[in-house]
Amino acid sequence: MTEEASSEATLSNLLREERTFPPSAAFAEAANVKADAYERAADDRIGFWEDAAKRLAWSEPWHTALEWNAPFAKWFVGGKLNVAYNCVDRHVEAGNGDRVAIHWEGEPGDTRTITYRDLQKDVSKAANALHELGVRTGDRVMIYLPMIPEAAVAMLACARLGAAHSVVFGGFSADSLRNRIDDAQAKVVITADGGYRRGKPSALKPAADEAIAGTGVEKVLVVRRTGEDVAMTEGRDVWWHDVVDRQPDTHEYSTFDAENPLFILYTSGTTAKPKGILHTSGGYLTQASYTHHAVFDLKPETDIYWCAADIGWVTGHSYIVYGPLSNGVTQVMYEGTPDTPHQGRFWEIIQKYKVTILYTAPTTIRTFMKWGADIPAKFDLSSLRLLGSVGEPINPEAWIWYRHHIGGDNAPIVDTWWQTETGAIMVSPLPGVTATKPGSAQKALPGISVDVVDESGKPVPNGGGGYLVLTEPWPSMLRTIWGDDERFKDTYWSRYSDQGYYFAGDGAKKDDDGDLWLLGRVDDVMNVSGHRISTTEVESALVSHPSVAEAAVVGATDPTTGQGIVAFVILRGDAEQGGDPASELRAHVSREIGPIAKPRQILVVPELPKTRSGKIMRRLLRDVAEKRDLGDVTTLADPTVMNLISDGLSSGKQD
Ligand code: WT7
Repeated sequence: MTEEASSEATLSNLLREERTFPPSAAFAEAANVKADAYERAADDRIGFWEDAAKRLAWSEPWHTALEWNAPFAKWFVGGKLNVAYNCVDRHVEAGNGDRVAIHWEGEPGDTRTITYRDLQKDVSKAANALHELGVRTGDRVMIYLPMIPEAAVAMLACARLGAAHSVVFGGFSADSLRNRIDDAQAKVVITADGGYRRGKPSALKPAADEAIAGTGVEKVLVVRRTGEDVAMTEGRDVWWHDVVDRQPDTHEYSTFDAENPLFILYTSGTTAKPKGILHTSGGYLTQASYTHHAVFDLKPETDIYWCAADIGWVTGHSYIVYGPLSNGVTQVMYEGTPDTPHQGRFWEIIQKYKVTILYTAPTTIRTFMKWGADIPAKFDLSSLRLLGSVGEPINPEAWIWYRHHIGGDNAPIVDTWWQTETGAIMVSPLPGVTATKPGSAQKALPGISVDVVDESGKPVPNGGGGYLVLTEPWPSMLRTIWGDDERFKDTYWSRYSDQGYYFAGDGAKKDDDGDLWLLGRVDDVMNVSGHRISTTEVESALVSHPSVAEAAVVGATDPTTGQGIVAFVILRGDAEQGGDPASELRAHVSREIGPIAKPRQILVVPELPKTRSGKIMRRLLRDVAEKRDLGDVTTLADPTVMNLISDGLSSGKQD
C-alpha cells in the first residue's frame, strides 16, 4: 500500500545508465563557457543575465533587469534595441560583411551563398517593401514559406520594423493558417508559389488563398520558388521579385522597447484551439544568443553550423535565425527531406560544406538508424566536432549510435531540453564541462532554475521521478498566450500556484547524481497496477535491443492491471529477420527494466504516426491498441501511415 501511494505521487525510475563521456581535454580547454559560469549565475542570477544581455547592441540601456509580477515578466525594462540590427548590420559594421551567413541548399540541388552584406541588403529591401505594403510597428505579419532564404529574410524584415511575425509551417493546412491569421489579426501574409519536397514541387499558394479569403489580410507577398502557375488576386497579391527587388538596399531602422513583441508562434494543443505563444525582443534575443554560444560552443570564425529543423518551429526561430545570426555564424540551410534524392543527403551536405556542428531531432536519428549505418559510412563526416539533439527524449541507444556513426566517437552530444514556451534552451550539458550520459539532458544551464517535484510540489530526492518545473523566471520565457492571459495562467501556472512554479507538462527523474532525465509528456504516462511508468523508459529499453530502430508504447485499458503496455516497434534495416521478435523483446524489456514494464503486447509495424514536427502521436496508437475507431488524423505528417499499421495488424502477421 505504501509503495502504491508513493508511486501514485511520482513516476517510477526504472532505467539505469552507467556510461559517461567527458569532453576531451582539448575541447574543454577551448570551450566558450567553462564551469565557472554555474558559480557566477548561482551567486547572482539576474546579474548573470545582465552580462549575457551585453552580448547585444542596445541603443538605450535598461534600468531594471527584471520586473516580475508573477506570472508576468518584463526583462531589461527601459532598454531599446533593434533585433535585426543585432543579427545582421552589426556584423557588417564589425568588418565581417564578406562572411557567409547562409549556405543554402535547395532540394533539387540548386544553391545560394548569402554573405552578411548580402543579408543586410536583402533584409533592408524586404523591410522597405513591407513598409510600402502598409506594415507598421506593432502589426502582425504571417509567414507561410518553404525553407528558402526569404523565410529568414522576411522574419528579420518584420523584426527590423518592430512588427511581430507569426510563421506557420509550410506543411500546415489552409484551415490551420486561417485560424492563426484570425487569432493574430494579421495584415499581411508572405508566402510562395510552392517549395520542393521529396523531389517534386509542392504548392503553397492555393492553400494560402483558401486560408486568406474572408480574413482581414490586406496584402499578400508571393515569392517565386517553383515557377508553377498560381492565381494572383488583383489589388491584394504582389510578387516578391516585383516589389522587393526594386526597393533601396538601405533602410533606416528604429529601435524598440525590449518588451516589443517579436513573434507569435502557435503550438497545437492536443484538442483545443492552438495557443499563440508570445515572445518579445530583448530577453528572448539575450537567451537565444547566449545559449547558442554556450551550448553549441560556437566559434563564428571557424565553425560551419547546421540546424536541420524547419523555420516553422521554434527550433528554427531560435537556432537558425535569432541565436546563430546574432552570433555572426556561417550556417547551412536545407530546403528538403533527408531522403531526397537519396538517404545519404544529410551526410553529403555535411561533407560538402564541412559542417562542424549538427543539431537535429531524435526522430531523425532513429530514422537514420533504421536506414542503416552503411549510409553515413560512405561520407566524410570528420569535420563534425559537436552534435545536438532536441524535440523528444533521446533513447540511450540512439544517442550511442549518433555518437559512434555520426560523431566518430569523438564529438560531444548536447541533449537540449526546451519548449516553444521557453523560447530557448533550458536544460542541457555544457559541451566543454559536462561528462555526458546517453539519454540525459543533465542539468539546468547557468541562470536557469529547474526542479523535479511530486504532485504536491515537493522536490523529489535523487533517484526519484516526478514533474519538471521551472522555479524562477528566465529571459526568453513566453510573456503570455496572445490575447488570452487567463489561458496562460491556467495552462502553465495554476498547477503549482502555491509555489509559483511554471509547469512544463513533462515527466522527469533525477538520477543518483541529481542529473535530469526527461520522461515524456505527463499525458502519456501509463499506470500499470498502480505504478506510474513513463513511455520513454520502456521505449528506450526496446531501442536498446539490437534489432529495434524505433519504438512507441502506450497504455491500453486492461481489466486486471488498469492499463497494460502495448508497444509498436520498427525493426532496423540491418536487423536479422525471423524468430519470434515479440517474445524476445518482451523478455529483453523485462531484463532491462523489470517485469512491471514488460509490454502486454508487441506489434511490429513499418511506420509510426508522427506529427509534422516528428513527435509520435500516441493518442492514435492508443486507439489502435484499444481497438477503437481512429480519432482525428489530419495533423499527421503522413496520414496513410495509420493504414499501413492497421493493414499489417489485420493480416495476422502480428503477435
Ligand atoms: C516539448 C516541447 C524545443 C524545440 C522543439 C520542440 C519535448 C523537447 C526535449 C529533450 C526530452 C524534449 C518535451 C517538451 N522535448 N526537447 N531534449 N528531451 N524532451 O518544441 O514543440 O514546443 O515541444 O518537446 O516534451 O515539453 P515544442
